Amino acid sequence: MGDRFVAFRLAGDAGANAGHGLATFRGDGLAAIVAFLCGLAGGQALPGRGDGILHRVVDLVLNRAVARPTAGHVASPYRFNIGRGMEFRNIVILTGAGISADSGLATFRGADGLWEGHRVEDVATPEAYRRDPQLVHQFYDARRARLGAVEPNAAHAALARLDAEWPGELLIVTQNVDDLHERAGAKRLLHMHGELTSGWCLACDERFLWQGPMGEKASCPACQVTGQVRPDIVWFGEMPYDMERIERALQNADLFASIGTSGAVYPAAGLVQTARYCGAHCIEMNLEPSQGSIFFDESRMGRAKELVPAWVDDVLA
Ligand code: OAD
Repeated sequence: MGDRFVAFRLAGDAGANAGHGLATFRGDGLAAIVAFLCGLAGGQALPGRGDGILHRVVDLVLNRAVARPTAGHVASPYRFNIGRGMEFRNIVILTGAGISADSGLATFRGADGLWEGHRVEDVATPEAYRRDPQLVHQFYDARRARLGAVEPNAAHAALARLDAEWPGELLIVTQNVDDLHERAGAKRLLHMHGELTSGWCLACDERFLWQGPMGEKASCPACQVTGQVRPDIVWFGEMPYDMERIERALQNADLFASIGTSGAVYPAAGLVQTARYCGAHCIEMNLEPSQGSIFFDESRMGRAKELVPAWVDDVLA
């Protein structure tokens, strides 16, 4: 089945340290995935409302449809106009590298993608950082430098407009580590995979704004220790940020939109299933159907810079 990226959720002390992580499997990974998940499930019970992710991943791996449209979901026509009954009030939007592709930033997968030139294991894992910090810094320093050469596009601008004008709850969850959403003006935004413009000191655990190259000799602005500052990026094997906040938003969402993401990396790829499970209408906008395409009520194929402004116009009409 090729490369597989699978989520896991680890139960910590009384659930207080529970979190998600990213994992990769190579080759024919089904047996490995199931064994891995069974190992986790056998190790710990996963209680609580927000702990359905493991079960949903198992369902996905076993190709069981977990989406359960509610009666309202089936009955509701696809209408956004808040003046005609507010069918949709709370929105969660997931974005991926495809939304920034129209600004000139490379995506990860496919021809000329970032993972074509680099192995994930060499630049995007804690082990890689321990083994060869120089290579890892070079990779992220180059990507940080590239930010200065690009601008938000019409899709970022449209989401910022939606954020500013939508009267209900709204959360933009981006997997992107670029800063194009905020430069376009988005406020209700979180970066679940970290940010290129943030540094994290392993000596004092502070996070801070970082611009320019970081390199191995960077000094922490908080504790002044040198050589312990790393990119504030979630690597494979680490926990994505803000999962609890994301799950809470999904539980309230009645509209979920996924934009420019391949659906290859969990837990981000599983958000659509949570959204559906909670009764949200789910739409994807992408160049091609994502790996989780079957979970969406509606798919619009094309470039984000064209699809997203039109969709936002619909929502705000
Ligand atoms: P991918 O590179 O996996 O997928 C990008 C998606 O965007 C693909 O499905 C493309 O077809 C689509 N696409 C490309 N250009 C587009 C355009 N102009 N308009 C609309 N869609 C377009 O990137 P992600 O799904 O974001 O994680 O990758 C998810 C995660 O995998 C990343 O956050 C990163 C990576 O490993 C970490 O580094 C932890």
